Amino acid sequence: MQTNLVLENPAVSQKPSFSFIWNILRAPLHALTGLAQEQGDIAHVKLRKRDLFLFSHPEFIEEVLVKQQSNFIKGPSLQRARIILGEGLLTSEGDEHLAQRRTLQPAFHRQRMEEYLPLMNENTFAHMSTWQNGSRVDMSADMMRLTLNIALWSFFGSAPEGTVERVSESMGTLMKLFPLTQLPLPDATRMLFPKFKQASMDLRQVTESLLKNPQAEDAKRALIHILKENSNGQFTDEQIHAHTLTFLLAGHETTALLLAWCWDMLAHHPQVMASLQDEVDVVLGDRFPTAEDIQNLPYTRMVVKETLRMRPPAWAMGREAVQDCEIGGQHIPAGSTVLVSQWVTHHDSRFYDDPHQFRPGRWYEIDQASFPRYAFFPFGGGSRVCIGEHFAMTEAIAILAMVARRWNISSAQSALARPNPSVTLRPDKNVNLIVTKRVE
Ligand code: HEM
Repeated sequence: MQTNLVLENPAVSQKPSFSFIWNILRAPLHALTGLAQEQGDIAHVKLRKRDLFLFSHPEFIEEVLVKQQSNFIKGPSLQRARIILGEGLLTSEGDEHLAQRRTLQPAFHRQRMEEYLPLMNENTFAHMSTWQNGSRVDMSADMMRLTLNIALWSFFGSAPEGTVERVSESMGTLMKLFPLTQLPLPDATRMLFPKFKQASMDLRQVTESLLKNPQAEDAKRALIHILKENSNGQFTDEQIHAHTLTFLLAGHETTALLLAWCWDMLAHHPQVMASLQDEVDVVLGDRFPTAEDIQNLPYTRMVVKETLRMRPPAWAMGREAVQDCEIGGQHIPAGSTVLVSQWVTHHDSRFYDDPHQFRPGRWYEIDQASFPRYAFFPFGGGSRVCIGEHFAMTEAIAILAMVARRWNISSAQSALARPNPSVTLRPDKNVNLIVTKRVE
């Protein structure tokens, strides 16, 4: 594997914008990969009103996300997502973002995972108890329900009946209609679209009832406690609504996709599944995992990492340059759109041998000391790094371990699902598995 940092093509060439726009609309993963292959680590497309740059080298990604982060704000597409998410942690900027992040961070410290883990374990155990031996399970839908339940219990202290269904339905509608938020329309006109309006109102009602739920009063560990404690000072009602919604949506969908991809990969790589089961059998036996166990399941963690490499739920991230700046010798005019893509960099053969092979063991071989930090960035980086990273990793490892100990799986489909890039990277079809019992 070649890991020396040879920066390719610092002198960029321009690609005609019409063909790029056509390609990115038709097949975005292919278009971004093609752009990086044609132009190298700095690619440039001249659009009608602005310049677009794709940075694919870890050093340049670090410049965008970390070293020069104060010069970049979220890209226009996330800015427009405010119509759905309001001014929460995902969409706020500058000092406002910093203040929100400081207040919310305590709910996500690594030590907090000890409190969330029993909820993850109990929900997973209850969930898989509904499976019938030898039955067919749609893991994409199942993981979505499971992670939503866990998010409700962890952040809001309870999962009132019907909430999972209501959130799933409204969220599905909003995701389908997300392109609507990207049109240059005033917010008020978008609200005229009846389905959009209905789904937004439904989510609003859900967040309001979660906030009022008396059971949540007891949930001292939960996010809701932080929100309520600050409601007379730091947070307005609108912000509390925005945070509730952000954590409800961001807190389960990406992890559910990660798990659906993990199951698809495991079902098509029986040797990897067998190694994972060996590890879980030895480390856990029939116990539920503790926080210490989660650190002590290296192979299971590598399966998660390898899946995040090959099927990153966040497959590209956009930023807008506030002022003129320079990255890798390239002048970036203020107002330019800058992209970094997990999909592109995670498949770069300079950093990964056989990048299209699912091989969790590669993470044993990678020398962390010399490996470029931003050759792997499924959770982003810098001050906007995913606040839920520890939560997601703990949850994914716990669910894989609990299920793999008790069930064998095989795919009900001959081929792996293909990645379908929308807001997040989804499987293009349901991940259907046949599940058979290993132990009671
Ligand atoms: C596999 C699971 C997950 C992946 C791949 C993922 C990925 C990401 C990425 C790439 C970002 C940075 C976006 C950017 O900089 O533009 C981000 C931000 C964020 N994520 Fe996650 N995420 C996951 C799970 C979670 C969970 C479980 C939560 C909540 C508990 C969460 C809440 C958030 C929030 C609130 C932000 C915004 C942080 C900020 O700007 O300060 N995510 N996530």
